[in-house]
Amino acid sequence: MAASHGKSWISSKTFKRSLADRKTPKNSGGSAPHGRSLFGRRIGRPLSAHKKDVLKRLLPTYEIPPETLVQPGTLNPENLFKKKYSEYWFEIGFGYGEHLTELSLRNPKTGYIGAEPFINGMAALLSDLDKTPAENIRVMMDDAMLLARALGKNTLDGIFILNPDPWHKTRHHKRRIVNRDNLDIFHRILKPGGRLIMTSDVEALSEWMVTHVASHPGFEWTAKNAKDWQEPPLGWSATRYETKRAKNAKKMCYLLFRKKGMKGSEKSP
Ligand SMILES: C[S@@+](CC[C@H](N)C(=O)[O-])C[C@H]1O[C@@H](n2cnc3c(N)ncnc32)[C@H](O)[C@@H]1O
Repeated sequence: MAASHGKSWISSKTFKRSLADRKTPKNSGGSAPHGRSLFGRRIGRPLSAHKKDVLKRLLPTYEIPPETLVQPGTLNPENLFKKKYSEYWFEIGFGYGEHLTELSLRNPKTGYIGAEPFINGMAALLSDLDKTPAENIRVMMDDAMLLARALGKNTLDGIFILNPDPWHKTRHHKRRIVNRDNLDIFHRILKPGGRLIMTSDVEALSEWMVTHVASHPGFEWTAKNAKDWQEPPLGWSATRYETKRAKNAKKMCYLLFRKKGMKGSEKSP
């Protein structure tokens, strides 16, 4: 893999090290192997009557049945939808859901599953789905890792982790969703060649994610030069965080990895 660095804010040392070093970092965090590990907020502003109404009316239609999450490794995303799709993608922490709905409209032959524990985010997504229904979306309002653990081996074409919570304090690093234990799970549920797509505007978190994923033996970084991770991929759909909080992606990092093995989807994310 080529490594031309250009003008970068992730040090070229990290870039090089992440390509070369295949050892697990010493400070690798990890969540409990079973059960819920949620640290962020689950509710923000009080919900409007409309948002409460959409949650009540539409969550049962779009929700992944909780009973399908009980047995680890048994859930086939095909069984969550009324029809079969050619690909299945999972968005972890979809926030207000605009990325999920945009992609579901663009790619009607792909089934999308999403997890977001924040009730205001779920209500915003369902409000959009009330206006524009999408039969290729299914969601859960809980810790994404519960769903990840439930999914069967080689069942996903891609995973998005867009602007995950950074957990800045060192003692909170183990809360980061990208850690060695979770990467083993993502590796198990992705098909060979499946994509792991992560973004962040937080330098320390981007470095953390690059270092952890590049040092996992089952993933390869698809970046060939600095432009590949400094600029959004072709056809990129920006998230709300990216456009509002990260001030239009000035410092965004786009980290595209692939599960080693056969060639997966060549489609742009
Ligand atoms: C900074 S926000 C980014 C939201 C969205 N991806 C975006 O880019 O606009 C991080 C999101 O991750 C969600 N989150 C945190 N821990 C999570 C977990 N264990 N499972 C699923 N989502 C989680 C939070 O509720 C929050 O909505």
